[in-house]
Amino acid sequence: MTIWLPNLPPGGGPRYRAIADAIAAARAEGVLQPGSPLPPQRELAYRLGLSLSTVTRAYAEAERRGLIQGEVGRGTFVREAGPLGLDPARVVTAPESGEAIDLGLNLPPPGPAPALAAEALTRLAGGSLALLSDNGAAQQARHAAAGAAWVQKLGLAAAPDQVFVTLGAQHATLVALLASTRPGDAVLTEALTYPAIKQLAQHLKLELHPVAMDAEGLLPDALDEACRRTGGRCLYFMPTLHCATGATAPAERRHAIGAVARRHDLILIEDDVFGRLPDDRPPPVAAAAPERSFYVTSLSKCVAPWLRVGFLHAPADRRDAIRAAIHMTCWMVPPLMAELAAGWIADGTAESLAAWQRGEAKQRQAMAQAVLGPLASQGGGDGFHFWLELPRPWRAAALLAAAERRQVRIVAADMFAVGESAPEAVRLALGRPSSREGLRAGLEVVRDLLRQGNAPPDNVI
Ligand SMILES: Cc1ncc(COP(=O)(O)O)c(C=O)c1O
Repeated sequence: MTIWLPNLPPGGGPRYRAIADAIAAARAEGVLQPGSPLPPQRELAYRLGLSLSTVTRAYAEAERRGLIQGEVGRGTFVREAGPLGLDPARVVTAPESGEAIDLGLNLPPPGPAPALAAEALTRLAGGSLALLSDNGAAQQARHAAAGAAWVQKLGLAAAPDQVFVTLGAQHATLVALLASTRPGDAVLTEALTYPAIKQLAQHLKLELHPVAMDAEGLLPDALDEACRRTGGRCLYFMPTLHCATGATAPAERRHAIGAVARRHDLILIEDDVFGRLPDDRPPPVAAAAPERSFYVTSLSKCVAPWLRVGFLHAPADRRDAIRAAIHMTCWMVPPLMAELAAGWIADGTAESLAAWQRGEAKQRQAMAQAVLGPLASQGGGDGFHFWLELPRPWRAAALLAAAERRQVRIVAADMFAVGESAPEAVRLALGRPSSREGLRAGLEVVRDLLRQGNAPPDNVI
């Protein structure tokens, strides 16, 4: 019987992992069939010129991935595909962690922020304990002023007494909805929206109505028509790097949306959570319609994923309602976190980290374009997410399931859909894998699935 030997690539990465990868590839290509024996460890070590401990580690890694199984006294054998349709031989793991690849959660990579946070927290530890307890007026005012400075950089002339610090953009949006709507109100959104809005609306008993979009985002004429039809009171929208399609509205589109809002006395909740990622984009709609705008942003998408500090700029006559909503939902934002954010805004660290994220987003977008090639018809603009319309006959749900079987997580358009219908498209989040190699491995799985041409039998949904 011929003995199977892995063909290891020269150089790069640990040998034990290369052997486990080779077993996975041979299993995927049918060279190693379920039940086939693997060479005894000692023999493989001898043939490859490696230490026995390297081969032992390689087999342990392959076993951990569910590729092989050792049987006492008999040897090591290739395993059958695992339960739940997970085919372990086809599982791709992120090189940096050996874990499955998450292209679902839309977060930026950690970047240089953790090391800087360690320094900043050490500095803060030497300061006043007030940061850990109360949130006095002077402290609050300082944090709001930092928020105003950040919002200013985003193109909105922000008055510090109209800026509120929140637990991220999602909390800011909840606060804005609490301060501006009542149960039963009609709220308009883009036909594809931030999924949390659907849940918030359900709990606040708001009626969501979808408004049609195109490649530049929300359509002003469709908004006008929806206002007439529904008597909508409020619009939640994302004119910069729409969280599904990545669309960014040009200046004329923003002016037109502002004009429709004025005509129908519509309240605007503008989510600009990705606002620092593009090199350049027109000013927020709120800049031209401040009297009716709740403007939402945060540091979690553009500075560091764990920095859950958001800012809400609201019309002056809503200040009391906002304070009440913050009080009701979290009492106060932990002052320590707000202090860290305010310090970084003041000393330019937040700006430098945003510049780092911008550069990284560009690299990752370029990688997605290169790996997906002609499949990438739309893409994602300047952010960390990438919209992929699927070639026929692929269905989004089927691609999701096929990718899941290879432990690559993506999300389908229906997660964002407000109305009945969702396009056959998926969103790939490019920032979550901490290394670009991990991202590339995940993108290649998606590309290879789509390139097969034949959608799987469970494509019919
Ligand atoms: C469009 C949009 N708004 C808000 C948020 C939440 O932001 P934060 O983490 O600051 O709460 C997200 C997170 O994915 C988002 O995609």
